[in-house]
Amino acid sequence: MIEMKKKLSPLGHSLKQRLQSGQNLKFIEAHNGLSCLIASRAQVSVKDEVREFDGIWVSSLTTSAARGLPDMEMYLLENRLDTIREIVDSTEKAVLVDGDTGGEPVAFEYLCQRLERLGVSGIVIEDKRFPKRNSLSEDSNQLLENPIAFCEKIRRGKDACSSSEFLIVARLEGLILGQSIEDTLERAMVYIESGADAILVHSRLSEAGQVFDFAKKYQENFPIKENRKPLICVPTTYNATFAEDLFAAGYSAVIYANHLLRAAHQAMKEVTRSLLLEDRSFESETRCSKVADIFNETGYTAAIARDKEGLAL
Ligand code: SPV
Ligand code: MG
Repeated sequence: MIEMKKKLSPLGHSLKQRLQSGQNLKFIEAHNGLSCLIASRAQVSVKDEVREFDGIWVSSLTTSAARGLPDMEMYLLENRLDTIREIVDSTEKAVLVDGDTGGEPVAFEYLCQRLERLGVSGIVIEDKRFPKRNSLSEDSNQLLENPIAFCEKIRRGKDACSSSEFLIVARLEGLILGQSIEDTLERAMVYIESGADAILVHSRLSEAGQVFDFAKKYQENFPIKENRKPLICVPTTYNATFAEDLFAAGYSAVIYANHLLRAAHQAMKEVTRSLLLEDRSFESETRCSKVADIFNETGYTAAIARDKEGLAL
């Protein structure tokens, strides 16, 4: 058996252990090696605390968009493996892969094994029918998956993995598709019974009320904390809500799911426009990183220094 590459926290804990022990984790999206390097190295000091991200989210929206494709499960996970490998190799942080619907159960088994061997910490699959449409689009025609079929996929994925440390996260799309909190919660319960290691609940409302209500009812259903699987949310639309408040409401992790790609997209639009308008590049410089910064980020500067050391011998 090929040994799994382990992405452990500085204290030696896996993502599963960190989630289960009640740590509050922040994930940020990456869509290639460079965005992953930036995400992994980001640090700010706030009073006495040093803040950084705990893990990387390999978004289907942004890895598709980075290749000029719509997020419609046409750029299948099989084709995304090279990007996932690039991301895993660019970070020491835990990597969580957005697996869309997970595809056919048998393909899902193979996929879990391959991701596990690459050193990915877990996969999230959503309970919509293949091929899914992006959850943030309001007018797309989407259906929820039969819960029995979804449970079967979870079970088979869990059985296929060589270690119980590889997370299979069940993502609830009920609230996105207008179902009640009660029905969505019922699905969470059966997914947990089928082996889901954590629950991601998605909402596209601009206020977090629905997400707070869900967490409250979820905790009422599992009054004993030890029996509860970790809850994850994606505060893209309810972006005025602080991560701290989501953690206080019972979420163990938040995912900033698309921000680096959106930031790059906006900067690229502005710079292309400026180059054409101004007929030179001077005005666009303030929106661009320096070439030296790119050299530093990608290790070029350090490699040149090593070249020089070699010549000096
Ligand atoms: C993604 O980042 O690809 C997601 C989250 O699945 S969302 O775009 O909100 O559906
Ligand atoms: Mg996605």
